[in-house]
Amino acid sequence: MTKNPNHKGLNQLKRILIIGGGGRENSIAWALSKNQSIHQIYVCPGNGGTANFEKCICLQLKDEKTIILECNRLQIDLVIIGPEDPLAKGLANKLREAGLIVFGPCKEGAQLEASKDWAKTLMIENNIPTAKYWSTNSRVEALEILHRFNQPLVIKADGLAAGKGVTVCETIEQSKKAINDVFSGKFGSAGNKIILEEKIEGPEVSIFALCDGEKLIVLPPAQDHKRLLEGDNGPNTGGMGAYAPALLINQKDIQDLTELILIPTLKGLKKKKIRYIGVIYAGLMITSSGPKVIEFNCRFGDPECQALMPLMGEEFASVLFACARGELEKAPKLTFHDVCSACVVAASKGYPENTKKGDRININIESNQSIQVFHAGTTIDEFDNIITNGGRVLSVVAQGESFDKAFQLAYSNLDKINFDGMHFRKDIGYQVRNIKI
Ligand code: AMP
Ligand code: GLY
Repeated sequence: MTKNPNHKGLNQLKRILIIGGGGRENSIAWALSKNQSIHQIYVCPGNGGTANFEKCICLQLKDEKTIILECNRLQIDLVIIGPEDPLAKGLANKLREAGLIVFGPCKEGAQLEASKDWAKTLMIENNIPTAKYWSTNSRVEALEILHRFNQPLVIKADGLAAGKGVTVCETIEQSKKAINDVFSGKFGSAGNKIILEEKIEGPEVSIFALCDGEKLIVLPPAQDHKRLLEGDNGPNTGGMGAYAPALLINQKDIQDLTELILIPTLKGLKKKKIRYIGVIYAGLMITSSGPKVIEFNCRFGDPECQALMPLMGEEFASVLFACARGELEKAPKLTFHDVCSACVVAASKGYPENTKKGDRININIESNQSIQVFHAGTTIDEFDNIITNGGRVLSVVAQGESFDKAFQLAYSNLDKINFDGMHFRKDIGYQVRNIKI
């Protein structure tokens, strides 16, 4: 029989299941583990660093049915779904139908990220500022639009493409090639439809709202570094580092962006009868004609989350629980530590194209209040060695009273980690540090 945890108060949050195995989920587990009233945190599938944190263990659950059975057996009070894939496939719908309390949007809401065309339509319907665009499922029409516009465009596969479906083109020739790539199946079914977007310019920043379906609260902004190489060069990656709070926007700007973008997004979702419970992540570009949304995601950013989690007050767990129950008004006020947080990702050889796995990792860092090592693509072999198991292997995160100090601490600790082929950007946070690239 399915229990009904709605009867419980917010202080009854004892057991949590986090779905996902990346650095994002590792940092969420760490942040929640600091809450004294939580007994146990399960992470499915987790990674080689999950069990490093008090109360955290990995759990291998193969499908929705098993997740529901185990949640009932383990008396899970809250399920947090980290990545976009299970959200887009409707895992939150299934778990809610089974009576579980879930933080993460239903599949209808996850379309904010899973279909760029759907998200663009929602933006237009609700006057949310974004770049001009066209969408089509015909190669011929896409080429005609390009011909008519006669300028290089940004070409995007409509669906989920693991952060690789966007090409920012410098020339018309490049735009043609990108259109052909999408329609020749480079991104699988994500490319059944294409978005052609006007190229806009300006610094980028990400804002995150925790939503309970009706209300929202906004977290400190963060800045990601998507390109592989220093100076923002090379191919796009999932993110090579981040920092928070991003200084590009101040408290007043955040208030304005909440009114201009976040509240209208939530209202737009409600108009479509979608009760959106989870994170609205808005990737923004601050252009000369004001802020514009370049993308929405339906979950925390990775690695932005790793930079953000050390800023969260202990109430974070209760706030997520309250959101998941649609009761944000009952949550304690979420506080943020007044420090600068710096995150640098160490990636494996070949990332992001051909990732090498199976290399032994040596870590000689003592984590403390100001330094954390969050695992992502790691696992533990039969001899208890930590080995690489993915592209982005670890995030080293540090806090300090200034970004210079925080990054200095993060980089000095990166020197205490090694594995074959390890690489990382040395200029993460250049926007807020006193360094020359
Ligand atoms: P996305 O996956 O949508 O975040 O896009 C990846 C990156 O492409 C963004 O972080 C931007 O740097 C860039 N980008 C996306 N859309 C545009 C646009 N309309 N104009 C210029 N750059 C863009
Ligand atoms: N760091 C970008 C993302 O999570 O989509």
